[in-house]
Amino acid sequence: MGAVNGLKDVVAAESSISRIAIEDGKAVLEYRGYNIHDLARHSTYEEVAYLLLFGELPSKSDLEYFSEDLKERRELPPQIVGLLTNLSPFCHPMVALRTAVSFLGTMDKHISFTGHEKSIEKAKNLIAKFPTIVAYFHRIRMGEKLVHPSEDLGHAANFLYMLHGEEPTKTMEKALDLDFILHADHELNASTFAARVAASTLADMYACVVAATGTLIGPLHGGAAQRVMEMLREVALPKRAERYVLEKLAKGERIMGFGHRVYRNVIDPRTVELKRLARMLSKEKGTRWFEISEAIEKAVYRHKGLLPNVDFYSASVYANLGIPDDLFINIFAIGRVSGWTAHIIEQYENNVLIRPRAEYIGPAGKKFLPLSERE
Ligand code: ACO
Repeated sequence: MGAVNGLKDVVAAESSISRIAIEDGKAVLEYRGYNIHDLARHSTYEEVAYLLLFGELPSKSDLEYFSEDLKERRELPPQIVGLLTNLSPFCHPMVALRTAVSFLGTMDKHISFTGHEKSIEKAKNLIAKFPTIVAYFHRIRMGEKLVHPSEDLGHAANFLYMLHGEEPTKTMEKALDLDFILHADHELNASTFAARVAASTLADMYACVVAATGTLIGPLHGGAAQRVMEMLREVALPKRAERYVLEKLAKGERIMGFGHRVYRNVIDPRTVELKRLARMLSKEKGTRWFEISEAIEKAVYRHKGLLPNVDFYSASVYANLGIPDDLFINIFAIGRVSGWTAHIIEQYENNVLIRPRAEYIGPAGKKFLPLSERE
């Protein structure tokens, strides 16, 4: 059999974390058996993180305990604050996050333990600390005083509080919480697969999460949302969308935020939720990001038949939440770290080394000439 470049449609692992299926012509996404639309309407990020890590929805007291536990883990060790302070202010915030994750590993006495309990501990630490790393680095690079984590606010509200220095409105809190839920897991996407490849060698969890953060940054994956925002700024007016799209397509360039490896001719259920959120926030904030996005969506569909992916409406959601463009991938990572760590634990617990083969297409059997005999 020939190579399947890009592992397109290859089923590379068994997993009981998230399920993507096309049923009755519609895409279905479930986390641990629960539909994403139900989770979006009725759940919170903390509850979803618990579900991903432990496989079941928490009871009321389990959720209270888990949420308190996360709160207690939010603060960063001074060494990490020192590291973030010493990074160059023009370092991309995703590079800062990736570096901080690696550094956190240096402070864990149990770094190489891959057993269930220690892995859950590490996962909770990473989930709790990701927002603090991102908010602290942002404030440090802007020359602003750190805002320490609140003991009262939930995961999403606390992040916005640490970032902006003031408590968010209920709408902003709910919007970001929903965004985190929608980004929490997505089967074997590229960054999760990278994490699982690392986990399959029984590398430590920090190494696996470094692999995942490093993979997420690429513009064909999580990096697309930042590029979408650049596009929205360039288009600037809904009536200019058509021309922009035609020019891009004529040059053979990709339009960021469109197309998906799995959702080929069906809309990604997360996009449906994010579009609703983007519309609501743009109306509330009085911005044109939604209108411009919708005009681009229509033009891309008309001229290329492509549908928007999860990154497309994320951009206007984040812009309306006052999040700087170059933090967009970090927001994705704050949501996705619960999924990454759940997958790493699943890989450790049913491990088979991931080591595929390549179809060799180079020359073979060449005669070696010593250096002195080569022209
Ligand atoms: N703009 C223009 N054309 C596109 C786009 C796009 N965004 N996406 C795919 N196409 C075209 C390709 O040129 C190709 O056309 P052709 O058959 O005429 O040559 C066809 O659609 C199929 O594309 P592939 O590259 O085979 O699709 P693949 O599954 O490999 O790529 C990917 C999926 C990487 C997401 C792609 O659609 C893309 O580059 N999108 C833009 C980047 C992006 O938005 N990434 C975020 C993805 S979601 C996420 O990771 C969270």
